[in-house]
Amino acid sequence: MIGYDAEPDAVRAALACVSAAGLQGVVHIEKRSLAEVEAPSGLTGLVVCNPPWGERLGNRRELESLYAALGRQLREHFVGWEAALLCGDTSLGRSLGLRARKRNVLHDGPIECQILRIDVHEPKPRPLGADGKPEPAPVRERSEGARSFANRLSKNKKKLRAWSKREGVSCYRLYEADIPEYNFAVDLYEAADTGLLHAHVQEYAPPDTVDEGDARRRRGEALAVIREDLGLTRERVHIKRRERQKGAKQYAKLDDSGNEFAVREGPARLWVNLDDYLDTGLFLDHRPVRAKLREAAAGKQVLNLFCYTASVSVHAALGRASSTTSVDLSRIYLEWAARNFALNGLACVGPEEDQGYRRSRPAHELIRDDALEWIREQGSRRWDLIFCDPPSFSNSKRMRGTLDVQRDHVEIIHRCAALLRPQGQLWFSTNLRKFKLDIEGLDGLVVEELSGTIPPDFARNKTIHRCWVITRRG
Ligand SMILES: C[S@@+](CC[C@H](N)C(=O)[O-])C[C@H]1O[C@@H](n2cnc3c(N)ncnc32)[C@H](O)[C@@H]1O
Repeated sequence: MIGYDAEPDAVRAALACVSAAGLQGVVHIEKRSLAEVEAPSGLTGLVVCNPPWGERLGNRRELESLYAALGRQLREHFVGWEAALLCGDTSLGRSLGLRARKRNVLHDGPIECQILRIDVHEPKPRPLGADGKPEPAPVRERSEGARSFANRLSKNKKKLRAWSKREGVSCYRLYEADIPEYNFAVDLYEAADTGLLHAHVQEYAPPDTVDEGDARRRRGEALAVIREDLGLTRERVHIKRRERQKGAKQYAKLDDSGNEFAVREGPARLWVNLDDYLDTGLFLDHRPVRAKLREAAAGKQVLNLFCYTASVSVHAALGRASSTTSVDLSRIYLEWAARNFALNGLACVGPEEDQGYRRSRPAHELIRDDALEWIREQGSRRWDLIFCDPPSFSNSKRMRGTLDVQRDHVEIIHRCAALLRPQGQLWFSTNLRKFKLDIEGLDGLVVEELSGTIPPDFARNKTIHRCWVITRRG
């Protein structure tokens, strides 16, 4: 018996059960994603699977694509096998694209579910055309809108190709609501290990005047174009709906897939997750800022406030910063940050680790705290380079008050400036569109806007962020 799960925690729990039951050597457990599961060669048998039902995990569209992927994996790798799948509802079962030989209805508390018994057969060959070759699958006629969307994707791809090749950029924005009716942002992420492309599609919520049915149709069309024209399987198109969100909701978990993969950015490798949160772990528009900071960091002590997954700190460390200190409120993002350091072969000390016995400070440290409080408490410690990129608004329960970057930036900037060594620099960045820097409030400081931080893939959106370099006068 062989068992697979993509989630390391589930694999660990399963191994513990196998061992408790004394079944080592009989039951083999391995970490594998669905796409990696294949039948042991030369054998046939029974595949049993209890995929998520949507009662607890996953949202509907993602579940449908998971069931479709399961069906495809069975058809491609398990011909001649039998499958018994425990499904939460009939319509999800339909997404498998496999006919059940038998259905057993069961009740799990209030949920009616069924075991689908499936014999996995060879796919029926396509009918042969006049030339004796299998006829191509019928192509659905595209609407005029879908054709314009497809043209724009292809045009943008051509336009960005030379640049992305030359600069070695493997993750970039391909489309940003270029056609108002197709109100999406499409970002491409290339997995470093496999070279496989993934599309992260964010649908901007349409105004109330747009008919929900029309919006749904266009979403379907756009997803089909993205899959077909970029040659992506369903599982590699990750769609999210982006509404104006404030504070904690923006960082809330959407799913629990744990589907992470590493991408390359210059000399760095960074983990991204395109399913479980609204953001992916890497803000692509900040790519040039990270590169500039990496170049500026050599020999410097760097402080990264509101560090998120610490991609900036990893770049600084790869640029030979003498130390990095990364502060964020979120345990989840700091754990992610620690994995980013590890992925680059850099040792760092996380917030949960006991630092009491260390004689000297670690070169790279992660600190879990409210950055606003933390900067007030730093006494005599100073830094050469501070990167501060606060959220526009935050009202996390772990904070005393709230953070509003427009309201609070003068105080934050002064407090950060006070933590600089005499020649030190503060890089202050914000993505609040209507942000107005209060120059008058920043007396005693020299403020210069950093140019060249908007990359060609965000050319349509020149105010996606702004970034200033701030030093102390004299
Ligand atoms: C916009 S992200 C910062 C992006 C990051 N600078 C980057 O370049 O990838 C905002 C981050 O601020 C964190 N955050 C929100 N309020 C905070 C607070 N009061 N103190 C520290 N971190 C906070 C969130 O957990 C989140 O990781």
